[in-house]
Amino acid sequence: MSDAQSIGVAGTGRMGQALGRLLMEAGCRVAAVAGRDPGRTQAAARFVGAHAATLEELPQLASRLLIAVSDDALATVAARLARAGARHGVALHTSGAHGPEVLAPLAASGFSCGALHPLQTVATPEQGVLALRGAAFAVTAEGAAALWAAEIVRLAQGWMLTIPAERRSLYHAAAVLASNCFAALLDAAIALMSTAGVQPCDALRALAPLARASCENVLALGPAAALTGPIRRGDVETVRRHWERLADASADLRELYRVCSLRLIGLARRSGLEPAAAQRLQDLFRGGGQDDA
Ligand SMILES: NC(=O)c1ccc[n+]([C@@H]2O[C@H](COP(=O)([O-])OP(=O)(O)OC[C@H]3O[C@@H](n4cnc5c(N)ncnc54)[C@H](OP(=O)(O)O)[C@@H]3O)[C@@H](O)[C@H]2O)c1
Repeated sequence: MSDAQSIGVAGTGRMGQALGRLLMEAGCRVAAVAGRDPGRTQAAARFVGAHAATLEELPQLASRLLIAVSDDALATVAARLARAGARHGVALHTSGAHGPEVLAPLAASGFSCGALHPLQTVATPEQGVLALRGAAFAVTAEGAAALWAAEIVRLAQGWMLTIPAERRSLYHAAAVLASNCFAALLDAAIALMSTAGVQPCDALRALAPLARASCENVLALGPAAALTGPIRRGDVETVRRHWERLADASADLRELYRVCSLRLIGLARRSGLEPAAAQRLQDLFRGGGQDDA
């Protein structure tokens, strides 16, 4: 039987394993890890250092449920746990996009429900255990769920962002911009380099120091102060030539360059670009390349 502090992890993926292991290492009693595939559940439980269980067994083993399954499976898993007899505990899920409402079946069973999204990328459980320490956690919760969320954040030596439920999608879109869209930008840069004659494997290697230093500068100085390049300098002719040569590029690559450039012009204005140069650059992208200045 479970006690009020025992934790059950629902989900055998990267986040469930990483957070489960982190809590175990922090001295929490992680009673079990539950999943739908016996083999994956055994392996995940071994990594966390807990027992393996089915989702139906989990409510008997733990009063604190940490639900780390795919976003689209949250409602189904919450319903399964509620049907299995989960009563009067605390449940947190780790999705950034959803609020506590996705756990409605558990709330109806007397659970205090909340959302706790680690603002970190977890590619493997091992990397995740390290990377989650010190991360920000976006929390939407009240009552007992808020208290448990705060405890997890403290144990991870992280810090808490309080996000209203109706704004979680905006928050999560921001996280996607900072993380996944970075991959899309580099992918586009590699594609463009290859049309310039550089092999894709060389392109990534060549771009890596530039991308790394740019990222570090932005993080250290802030986006406006870290900005360099033709838009920041107001080199309109250079940017015009880019834009003209991109006429043969794919539509999505052109649009990516155009939208990023418009955002960069605003950023450059904030870091000192003269208004007249900013206007000429803007006309270039808004006027379909017909900059007549
Ligand atoms: N990884 C990250 O960087 C990261 C960062 C922040 C937050 N998160 C959040 O953490 C949660 C889990 O993500 P993850 O990266 O750990 O994903 P993952 O590695 O792909 O694992 C997903 C887990 O969900 C389970 N699942 C999927 N559909 C299910 C269903 N219908 N019924 C029961 N279980 C089901 C999978 O079970 P099977 O193994 O049986 O398929 C697997 O255990 C998500 O809400 C995600 O938004 C992830």
